Amino acid sequence: MVEPLLIAKSDPAKTDSPLYLLPQMANRHGLVAGATGTGKTVTLQVMAEAFSRIGVPVFAADIKGDLSGISQPGTDNPKIQERVKNLELGEFSFTGCPVTFWDVFGEQGHPVRATISEMGPLLLGRLLNLNDTQEGVLTLVFKIADDNQLLLLDLKDLQSMLQYVGENAKNFQTQYGNISAASIGAIQRGLLTIQQQGGEKFFGEPALNLDDLLQTDAQGHGIVNILAADKLNQSPKLYATFLLWLLTSLFEQLPEVGDPEKPKLVFFFDEAHLLFSDLPKIIEDKVVQVVRLIRSKGVGVYFVTQNPLDIPQTVLGQLGNRVQHALRAFTPQDQKAVKAAAETFRTNPKLDVGKAITELETGEALVSFLDEKGSPGMVERAVICPPHSQIGPITPEQRQELVKSSVVAGVYENAVDRESAYEVLRARTGQVVTATAAPGQAPSSSPPWYENIPGMSSHGRRGDNLADALAKSAARAMGSSLGRQIVRGVLGSLLGGSKKR
Ligand SMILES: Nc1ncnc2c1ncn2[C@@H]1O[C@H](COP(=O)(O)OP(=O)(O)OP(=O)(O)O)[C@@H](O)[C@H]1O
Ligand SMILES: [Mg+2]
Repeated sequence: MVEPLLIAKSDPAKTDSPLYLLPQMANRHGLVAGATGTGKTVTLQVMAEAFSRIGVPVFAADIKGDLSGISQPGTDNPKIQERVKNLELGEFSFTGCPVTFWDVFGEQGHPVRATISEMGPLLLGRLLNLNDTQEGVLTLVFKIADDNQLLLLDLKDLQSMLQYVGENAKNFQTQYGNISAASIGAIQRGLLTIQQQGGEKFFGEPALNLDDLLQTDAQGHGIVNILAADKLNQSPKLYATFLLWLLTSLFEQLPEVGDPEKPKLVFFFDEAHLLFSDLPKIIEDKVVQVVRLIRSKGVGVYFVTQNPLDIPQTVLGQLGNRVQHALRAFTPQDQKAVKAAAETFRTNPKLDVGKAITELETGEALVSFLDEKGSPGMVERAVICPPHSQIGPITPEQRQELVKSSVVAGVYENAVDRESAYEVLRARTGQVVTATAAPGQAPSSSPPWYENIPGMSSHGRRGDNLADALAKSAARAMGSSLGRQIVRGVLGSLLGGSKKR
């Protein structure tokens, strides 16, 4: 049995009862909500620390940069001392957690990338703001690439593929259906916008190996993976798309573990409203489904948001462990949120939840964690423990130091541009390609036209990321020896496959 995680104590003035987050219930997800400045990020930090301590790796997006302090020991100050004393925490030690920093733009952490193929047409369609018709064409373009064994790795692969399909639209039309020039043009314009927002850095290789998020250090402490998201916040679609992709990929790649004694990974979505704002119904449904099913893979998902109403009811209903910080009740909209938040708790006869919610002080919250049977505990008004690590951001120098010494240092730093659709199509300029296989069918038994292209001939899996990464610039040379196959977008298969309109 793994020790329960002390997160808070119910109001010490009244009782002194510890509130534990049970590791075996941590994959039943959670919610941290509250108005700005009420203590959400510190609560996240306290939870993340606790997970790390019992060997559970964590992934969290850091919107304001203030979560980075989790990497450093905290410092004693009168406020912390007071909290330690009030909560009767006794000897309180200051320690930091092992941290790996990630950054889509490769500036404040290790570059994190995904391939176009992994992203899949549906999420990409959302990223590009495509309508149904345009997204349909994008899906066809993926299909044509697939059937022709053309790898879609980076933006220029997709760009050249679009151009190629556009130019040969007539040839493909009979087999794949209508491909309008206007739709191709819309997708191309969308790609240009993404490129201008720095998407070029995000799409490509070496793509993130999910195992790199599941690491522990020499002491057996879980690594806290922090995604620098301050800039991503300015391109919320890219942020949301990336996180949805990550969640879905984890879901697809991790094995079933049933009910583990502690999670394999805990995922914190800060500013969760960004994920759900104008999310098409079809993707929202899938998110709901993934959140429900990922539990059995041992992944706990915690949403952090100002207003619980920002999260769809279907998702909210699945969040078992709850910490509700203060909400304001100025406007009717606010009052609605207060009411909604109050109604989700298992009532406590001694507590007027609706009233308490508006009175809570910073670092105080209404807390309800799941008990051993998986039932929500009675809601308590509680003071959240102080973190053992530093509150607030670290310096850029400290960050650079940690990036240099991290377990994945050097693995992702250099982008690799191996042979893919762009290169193949460029080399083939002037030749007319006909599809080698009917949609959905394997290529025919006669050797396909790409058989002689290095790295395209065998049907093994795509070169493993670790191999890619270790070989870095040598990866291209060894590419032909690594069996590879077009990887169907993770979301392509999960989301695209069952797509019905
Ligand atoms: N559990 C705690 N222990 C000690 N100090 C705390 C705790 N919770 C909150 N604080 C104090 O309150 C401040 C604000 O908390 P925090 O940054 O977590 O708020 P927030 O809800 O994340 O705000 P925002 O919505 O602006 O991101 C912290 O900088 C810290 O000084
Ligand atoms: Mg915060």
